[in-house]
Amino acid sequence: MNEINFTLRPFRKGDEPSLAANISSKKIERYTQNIPYPYKIEHARQWVKRNIENDRKKEKAERNFVIDLDGQVIGSVGLSGIRGHRAEIGYWLAAEHWGCGITTAAVKMVTAYAFKELGLRRVYAYVAPANKASSGVLKNGGYKYEGLIRKHGMKHGKPVDLLLFAKTR
Ligand SMILES: CC(C)(COP(=O)(O)OP(=O)(O)OC[C@H]1O[C@@H](n2cnc3c(N)ncnc32)[C@H](O)[C@@H]1OP(=O)(O)O)[C@@H](O)C(=O)NCCC(=O)NCCS
Repeated sequence: MNEINFTLRPFRKGDEPSLAANISSKKIERYTQNIPYPYKIEHARQWVKRNIENDRKKEKAERNFVIDLDGQVIGSVGLSGIRGHRAEIGYWLAAEHWGCGITTAAVKMVTAYAFKELGLRRVYAYVAPANKASSGVLKNGGYKYEGLIRKHGMKHGKPVDLLLFAKTR
């Protein structure tokens, strides 16, 4: 495994161009629920602004981290719907870096943050059945498969089945 040295950090001003350049891909849009294609610089501006504002709040409903390589946003791992003792985890990585174990490492770090820093007891993820890499990331991270949730997602106006994975403590 050619694991690269990356840093995990909050979003900051200046991230917009590398975010837009690296996330704007059909390979990423295909298996995600809320990432548009094409992903325009305006989407990136809104996303970075939203995260800077969120990170200043005491009570955080979501927390998104940049996977940073040489100052560039090459991916992200985030917790959303942080409510009570649980949250949903989501992630993407620029296709040129796939298969190196980067997302596995980043998901492990964010899951540890969720349990240790936020005190959560359950972190879960929904995955398209065909998205073997994402299921692989979760299994590597100690997440357990809990079942197929029928028509849980909506893709291009059609409901789609999703696999549910979770890690608890
Ligand atoms: C999912 C995604 C983030 C994975 O990133 P990555 O850094 O390449 O993942 P990793 O290298 O850490 O691990 C992937 C695991 O899945 C396995 N895997 C990858 N493709 C696979 C396939 N076609 N069949 C079976 N296993 C596969 C890998 O071998 C690896 O497991 P291993 O360490 O046991 O070998 C990346 O593919 C991506 O951005 N996809 C588009 C967005 C997305 O799907 N987001 C998640 C939505 S739920």
